[in-house]
Order: sequence, then C-alpha cells, then structure tokens
Amino acid sequence: MKFSAVKGMRDVYPEDARLRNYILDAWRRVSLRNGFEEYDAPILEYLELFTVKSGPEIAEQLFGLTDRGGRNLAIRPEITPSLARMVAAKINALPRPIKWFSLPRLCRAERPQRGRLREFFQWNVDVIGVESVQADAECIFTLVDFLREVGLSPAEIMVRVGSRPIVLSLLRREGVCEEAMDKALLALDKRQKIPAEAFEAMLREIGVSAGAIAGLCEFLDTPPERIVQRIADSGLPGAEKEIADLQELESALAAMGVKEYIAFDLHIVRGLAYYTGVVYEAIAAGERAVAGGGRYDRLLELVGGPECPATGFGMGDVVLGLLLAEKGKLPPELTAGSLEFYVIDAEEGTFRQVLDITARLRAAGRSADYGFKRQGMGKQLKEADRRGSKFAVLVRREGLSVKTLATGEQTETTAETFLEKIR
Ligand code: HAM
Repeated sequence: MKFSAVKGMRDVYPEDARLRNYILDAWRRVSLRNGFEEYDAPILEYLELFTVKSGPEIAEQLFGLTDRGGRNLAIRPEITPSLARMVAAKINALPRPIKWFSLPRLCRAERPQRGRLREFFQWNVDVIGVESVQADAECIFTLVDFLREVGLSPAEIMVRVGSRPIVLSLLRREGVCEEAMDKALLALDKRQKIPAEAFEAMLREIGVSAGAIAGLCEFLDTPPERIVQRIADSGLPGAEKEIADLQELESALAAMGVKEYIAFDLHIVRGLAYYTGVVYEAIAAGERAVAGGGRYDRLLELVGGPECPATGFGMGDVVLGLLLAEKGKLPPELTAGSLEFYVIDAEEGTFRQVLDITARLRAAGRSADYGFKRQGMGKQLKEADRRGSKFAVLVRREGLSVKTLATGEQTETTAETFLEKIR
C-alpha cells in the first residue's frame, strides 16, 4: 500500500519549512513592535462555537469529529471565535486595551485551489475593548507595516477598505429589502469578478430596479480617493456614525503614513457573518485575498460574554508565500540553508580536529557543520556552498584558513586564534 498526504494538506520539506519560518518570524516581529501580545487557543473547539457564529460558509468547511463522550467537536477553521470566548471568560481580569496576536494552524475543508488549502497558518491581529476607530487604524497599520517589512509595495498590494453598515444603508436606499440583503452583499462581493450582466441579474432577481442598479454601480465606481467624501455628502440615513468613523479612519491612516497602501472600496463586504463595521482585505492583482478583517462588535455577546467592541484581521501563509516567491521578495538564504561555518579536513589526518573545532563553534552558539564522508577538499567546498554556509574552515595539520564563500577571500590563522576570536 502506498500513502500520500491527505487532500489539501502540505508536506513541509526543509525548504518549505524555511519559507514558513521566514513568514512566521516576520509576523511575530511585526506584531511585537506594534505592541501586540501573543496568545493561542486549542486546536479543537465545540462545533457550536463555529456553526452559530461564523456564518454558513465557514460552517460548511468544518472538519468535525465526535469524541468518545459523544461531544461534537471541530478543528478550528479560524481563531476569532476562540479569542472571543477566551476574552469573554476573563473580561474583568484582563488589562485593557487588549492588543493580542496569534499564529494558529487552521483547517478548512474547502476545495483546494491556488492560494487555498485545507490546512494553513494564519496571522491574527486583534484589538478588543476599544470602540474608537483608532483600533481599526492600529490593525490596518500593523498589516501595512508587515507588507513593508517583506518588501511588498503599494504597486503590488493594496488594502481595500469598506464598511458593512454603510453598504447596508446604501442598499436599503436603493430598495433592497432585509430578507434579500445577504444575496445583495454576495452580488457586491462578486461584482469585480463577474460580467456586468451577471451582477445585474443577481440584483434584479431580488427585486432591485434597473434604475437603482445603475445608480448603485455609478456610486460604487467612485474613485477611491473621492469615495469617502462622496459617502459623507450623500448623507446615508442611519449611517452617520459609520460615515464619521470612515472619515476618521482615513485621516488616522494618513497621519500614520500608510495612505499609499489604502483604497476605500465599498465592494469589500467580507463573507464572515460577524462583521459589524469597517471591513478590509489586502489584495494583490489577480490573486485571492492575502488578508481580511474588520470590526466585530457583537461576537463576544454571541459567545455568551458581555457587550464588548472588537476588531482585527487574519492573514494566511499560502497566498502570501506564492506572492513573495513570484515577486522575487524572498531572501536568498531561503533557497539554500543558512549555516555559518562548514568545517573541512583540508589535509589527511585532521578529522579529529574538524570534530573538535565544530564542537567548540557550536558551544559558542554559532551554527557549524561538517561532512560525514571523508572526501577531497573540492567536494567538501561544494557541499559548503550547497548548504548556504558563509564560511568554510579549512583545517590543516599546521594552522587553518577561513574562506568567505561569497568572495573567495581567505585568511590564514591558527585554531586557537580563530576560536578565541569567535568567543
Ligand atoms: P478569512 O477572510 O476567512 O478571515 O481569512 C483570512 C485570511 O486567511 C484570508 O485572506 C487568507 O489569506 C487566509 N485563508 C483563509 N482560508 C484559507 C485557506 N483555505 N487556505 C489558505 N489560506 C486561507 C478570518 O478567518 C477572520 N477570522 C479574520 C479575523 C481576525 N477577523 C477579525 N479578526
């Protein structure tokens, strides 16, 4: 019998692990420098935590199981409901503001395709307990800080920001009734990926008139730099606070110096059912979203907690990895290893010295390795290169040389002087 990995799951070979660690390290570094603290949650939760709160799309994608006590469980498809549950459980004991991040491994039984698998890592950045739109600005800033950190420019990726309540108010004004709202949001989400006629057909089906559709399209197509003002001018009834928030967000992001990465866009409505305010996605041309998030002020209550404002986003490692590779943004040491010293017996009879020097380099906290096979210096140098080593240490009976592999530059010294310098 022959086995392969389960559909949609990844085997992580060393070069894949290097890419994964590069991404996870950058996520953690950026979170910490933006003042977020790390948390984690269980990989299994009660099934209901997800079925009641996240909406039909996530519920259909659950990997569920029953434990021996007959309890219905699910592998987490996202961590936000667990976060809400954890915060709700200790709401009075936790110092505010709650600025937390996490790097969970998630599973979703969706159709594997480019950028979407059934198992992936997702960076989560959330602020809980802050009503002000500054909390949304803080999350969006952190997202952009990461994009800059890995070398993605605004020409390559943008954060598209919308607002659920503003869109709802706009749709209501165009005559969409409450029962048809989910379908209208779905149409909006799809608009830029389907022909105009298909979009119109979706809205006509739920009773929106041709005139209203034309008005809506004209509004949606307002250029990003003018849309916030246009929304404000149109004075949508019942959305006054959200409009003020959007203006405040625009100005905060400008003050934080990330305006060039932001495009306001009312097509962004997001699939998850719990979003209540500003929503956004980081999107590169022609790709699925790299990140998505927004405000979810009701989720804590939905999991049995008190009323508590919350906002944040998630970014997956799959599309991001593809994008970084395609745009040539990956550091060269990811293709090879990143060893510092490769120690070579350059003369017969020096292998014991090779072992001694390697051991002492390692004891000094430096990365060092040597070959298991005794072979010529040329072959060992080749191996040093393949391993991505910075230096080759050529050990002779009398003294040694340290060769910088990138330049070929070589310095002569003795084992004692070399190790003394390392210490
Ligand atoms: P989401 O939009 O479902 O949001 O996922 C966020 C990101 O996770 C996506 O943009 C994508 O990069 C990645 N992702 C989602 N599904 C897959 C998949 N099957 N394979 C690979 N990557 C995937 C959420 O999960 C929200 N809980 C995020 C959030 C945090 N909202 C507030 N706080």
